Amino acid sequence: MKRTEIASILAQPNLNEVVTVMGWVRAFRSNRFIALNDGTGMKDLQIVVDFENFPEDVLARIKYHACLKVTGQLVASQGAGQTVELTAQEIEILGENNPDEYPLQPKRQTMEFLRENAHFRMRTNTFSAVFRIRHAIAYAVHKYFNDNGYYYMHTPIITGSDAEGAGEMFRVSTLDPEHLPRTEDGAIDYKQDFFGKATNLTVSGQLQAEIAALALGKVYTFGPTFRAENSNTSRHLAEFWMIEPEVAFYDIFDDMNLAEDFVKYLINYVLTNLPDDLEFLDKRIQEEEKNLPTDKRRPMGLIEMLRFVVDNDFARITYTEAIDLLRNSKDFKKGRFQFEPVWGSDLQAEHERYLVEKEFQKPVIVRDYPKDIKAFYMRMNDDGKTVAAMDVLFPYIGEVIGGSQREERYDRLLSRIREMNIHEAELGWYLDLRKFGGAPHAGFGLGFERMVLFITGMGNIRDVIAFPRTPGNAEF
Ligand code: 4AD
Ligand code: MG
Repeated sequence: MKRTEIASILAQPNLNEVVTVMGWVRAFRSNRFIALNDGTGMKDLQIVVDFENFPEDVLARIKYHACLKVTGQLVASQGAGQTVELTAQEIEILGENNPDEYPLQPKRQTMEFLRENAHFRMRTNTFSAVFRIRHAIAYAVHKYFNDNGYYYMHTPIITGSDAEGAGEMFRVSTLDPEHLPRTEDGAIDYKQDFFGKATNLTVSGQLQAEIAALALGKVYTFGPTFRAENSNTSRHLAEFWMIEPEVAFYDIFDDMNLAEDFVKYLINYVLTNLPDDLEFLDKRIQEEEKNLPTDKRRPMGLIEMLRFVVDNDFARITYTEAIDLLRNSKDFKKGRFQFEPVWGSDLQAEHERYLVEKEFQKPVIVRDYPKDIKAFYMRMNDDGKTVAAMDVLFPYIGEVIGGSQREERYDRLLSRIREMNIHEAELGWYLDLRKFGGAPHAGFGLGFERMVLFITGMGNIRDVIAFPRTPGNAEF
């Protein structure tokens, strides 16, 4: 079926040309004006229907989100809001829609309701903008790394190792749960399982990316990762996508520089290439917040905030400095924190947001965390108490990136693995990388959906992935 895409018409209209467009009805006003959208961009094409030229039964079927094929002539528009419109000559209903049964209605609907109707929500302006932006960020990830000489690695989704040592993994097994084979001492006999051992869905591609970095120098992964943590928050998914660069000869400072340059590039890419979608989302947030008291509103508009992040250096502090700042803060002294900031315990979301939104009012990179709250592979600092880890914290979101310089010293790594009771047998190859031709190296993981959340200004991570998996929910 030959069709002209609406984005190309709006970008460069050839007045008087006769074209065929296909798309979904966003609105039909006064039995005369159809706003048609085919997904190629934020803007709809206005179609003018002279109702005398069309049978009543065709007009009656032009309903919200029905799918149409329209042939007509492009003419200069008299109305405000567009420069060109299409005068309909033929209208064919490709996909009928019965609004009495269709779940979505042409009015503001709650995000929860739209989530339950995730098979239709992409037809709304908000979600089509979000998913176009999501695509653009994914493309920009590959472009950034390709342009900078990195190789894209596909790391396994099924693994026998627990990269983060956190143990919150989904088991992969073909054993019959009703009749589990047992060893003599009563344990489940994974030797009889598909892979001959216990396996799980990966929580990170990092350990395998390290293998590649110690041969190819600069690599990255971009794949799905899985965490069975029972975190029902607006920032956590059980299945999410992670981008993990890993670079030989990088230390923690190179790693932080890469992280800052990379996320700024992603934001810039969207600012430059999808201004219409961003403007729509920006207005949407302003609309949503206009009835809130000033102190509950975001201090900057969406686009203003993105520009601000791109134009300013991120703040950089150590974990120890962060704890000092938190303990000396008004918020702590006035009892506004639910959790006390104490050296040795993890920064809570409220602490991260305080640092970013109140103390520095821009993204913050915190480094040198206590060893006991971080993963086994992070490089021990000379103080013997902290490791060369870094987290990048963003406004509204908190942590978007977690990374570190890796422990490249064989003995130190082995003793950490033992100290932390990590399954040493699964990590023989990982230790080998330190024994044979090892090198200092570093990397990080960017949570893709958290980045999309920040750039789109959406409020819940479930609304920036098409089909979210969260505790109790694997619909679609
Ligand atoms: O900080 P994390 O756990 O780091 C790692 O997995 C390292 N192996 C990365 C590396 O050094 N190569 O996770 C990295 C990022 C977090 O900063 C966060 O943005 C995101 O992944 N993330 C999640 N995003 C959504 N839902 C979850 N449950 C997430 N858990 C982590
Ligand atoms: Mg982390």
